[in-house]
Amino acid sequence: MKIAKTLGQFILEKQADFPYAKGELSRLLRDIGIAAKIVNREVNKAGLADILGEAGTTNIQGEGQKKLDVYANEQFISALKHGGECCIVASEENDEFIPIESEVSKDAKYIVAMDPLDGSSNIDVNVAVGTIFSIYHRTSTHGKATMDDVLQRGTEQVAAGYVIYDSSTMLVYTTGKGVNGFTLDPSIGEFCLSHPDMKIPKDGLIYSINEGYYSHFPDGVKKYIKYCQVEDAKTSRPYTSRYIGSMVADVHRNLIKGGIFIYPVTASAPSGKLRLVYECNPMAFIIEQAGGKATNGYERILELEVNELHQRSAIFIGSENMVHKAEEMMSFFSPQLLKRSFEGVVELQ
Ligand code: AHG
Ligand code: MN
Ligand code: MN
Repeated sequence: MKIAKTLGQFILEKQADFPYAKGELSRLLRDIGIAAKIVNREVNKAGLADILGEAGTTNIQGEGQKKLDVYANEQFISALKHGGECCIVASEENDEFIPIESEVSKDAKYIVAMDPLDGSSNIDVNVAVGTIFSIYHRTSTHGKATMDDVLQRGTEQVAAGYVIYDSSTMLVYTTGKGVNGFTLDPSIGEFCLSHPDMKIPKDGLIYSINEGYYSHFPDGVKKYIKYCQVEDAKTSRPYTSRYIGSMVADVHRNLIKGGIFIYPVTASAPSGKLRLVYECNPMAFIIEQAGGKATNGYERILELEVNELHQRSAIFIGSENMVHKAEEMMSFFSPQLLKRSFEGVVELQ
């Protein structure tokens, strides 16, 4: 039987590629892996442990927090605090970023932004959920790290990854040199390298979007959906529609099989729903590293200016040729025209 490489061994091996690095990033990734295992244990017990349902609180975005949102948030923050490599944690579940000022982390040079539990609405029904994380270098050189350290463009990410808690649990990450996937072997409690050097197919046959909001979509998106549904033997259309409602799970499937995931701006969410810093940027980094593409319909996600921690963005992410096609459909309608149509100034056809 082939012995699989563990996440820890893999990280150490990669560390050797950077003889001058001191191993801080490796340790940070290790800390994230540990928190992921703890959250996984709890997700697996959902139904038995008192972890289902609402926490009775709301986050900055006015969304009701589930108990597991709060639990995952606490576990990741605590692992990062004790690990000592991170000076700020920014999370979907906290209005403000959290400075880490313990003795062990006084020289820490990394910033972590995260969505501790992605797909919360799926927790109570045994459907896949995830964790998304994004890692930056602190840019300020002295004093306390500030919001400017957090608000960096996606191109500045040092590493990014996600964990998917599903029929099996996987951790997928990049440090800008390709993408590698690790499956949790519950019998030994280790993530083991199962998907080395992941590549997303250039084309795919799956489109993933919440079509319930069809009437709220920009015309470019409606046009692309119609394109996916048209019969055309040469391009194997109609495509298949799949929407789990956990971005991590939808993007993970598309990474393996090929496909596109779209969460556009809508009339009711004119800036989009998903958050740039800890949802769109990390997923865009991973998918680009796997050979795919991620845009907001007009511009590359990773180059978008970041002004606020909880800033939202539209996202079109996945197989390069599919995202390119969707962008082409979007280009018929300028962003200005789209904005005015949402404001009811012009009626789009
Ligand atoms: P979160 O649970 O972190 O708030 O994220 C949920 C996100 C994303 O994972 C998913 O794709 C999307 O919201 C689903 O939204 P709709 O229900 O509007 O389709
Ligand atoms: Mn999310
Ligand atoms: Mn979340």
